[in-house]
Amino acid sequence: MSGLTRAKKAAAAAATAAAAATALIAAPSSAVAAPQPIVGGTTTTTSAYPFMMQITDASQDQFCGGTLVSPTKVVTAAHCMVGESTSSVRVVGGRTYLNGTNGTVARVSRIWIHPAYRSVTRGDDVAVLTLSTSMPYTTAPYVSSSDTSVYAAGTTARIIGWGTTSSGGSSSDQLRTATVPTVSDTGCRGSYGSRYVQSDMVCAGYSSGGVDTCQGDSGGPLLIGGRLAGITSWGNGCAAAGYPGVYTRLTTFSADVTAQVNG
Ligand code: ARG
Repeated sequence: MSGLTRAKKAAAAAATAAAAATALIAAPSSAVAAPQPIVGGTTTTTSAYPFMMQITDASQDQFCGGTLVSPTKVVTAAHCMVGESTSSVRVVGGRTYLNGTNGTVARVSRIWIHPAYRSVTRGDDVAVLTLSTSMPYTTAPYVSSSDTSVYAAGTTARIIGWGTTSSGGSSSDQLRTATVPTVSDTGCRGSYGSRYVQSDMVCAGYSSGGVDTCQGDSGGPLLIGGRLAGITSWGNGCAAAGYPGVYTRLTTFSADVTAQVNG
């Protein structure tokens, strides 16, 4: 693993470190099943999810996920792109395994980070990458600004990624996926207080925990009804009871994404 990858994961972990201590106290360890990558998921492939992109460093070491929304545009998290440049990142499509060498590697010609982005707990965690060459894969549709009903509490959402098995664990070599129910704004504010910015975020997860995205899944998709509706952003630890995953509420940023896709 490269230093850059480690640094990115450390930065992602640090963003929630203080809150994670609380989560450790709150989570009853005896009730938690053995965590699996994308905690609680099953293995899958990029053939099943062709729009699922690895965001890597120049050595093709993955540090975040992304979603192909047009042949040359990838939606990811702003926090994944902090400190990056067009020369430091690559996008890899069609590669199910982190240790694979197959698929398509694209360079990045432009990185758009939401101009208001400051930190994951303040919202605006969205970025769009423009690829120098086209990806030959099926793209994902994404929600429009008027589609806010997709987040109705209890709606099944799909999460996908190569993230860690557990908080502070190691990444999954094979792509994984799981489903989690969306959580109401009231429920999520109950977990996270003012760090939950209702206009910019949506939560998903079981109240008992056990299934969640984790470090390295950031930037990847939250799919609802087969459409990109969220971006993996943050959480207290991973899969802890009472602390659902927090995702960028894409309806809020749909027009921004479209401007980048068309721009
Ligand atoms: N910030 C993490 C990353 O950079 C994603 C964390 C998601 N955490 C969660 N509990 N759902 O990969």
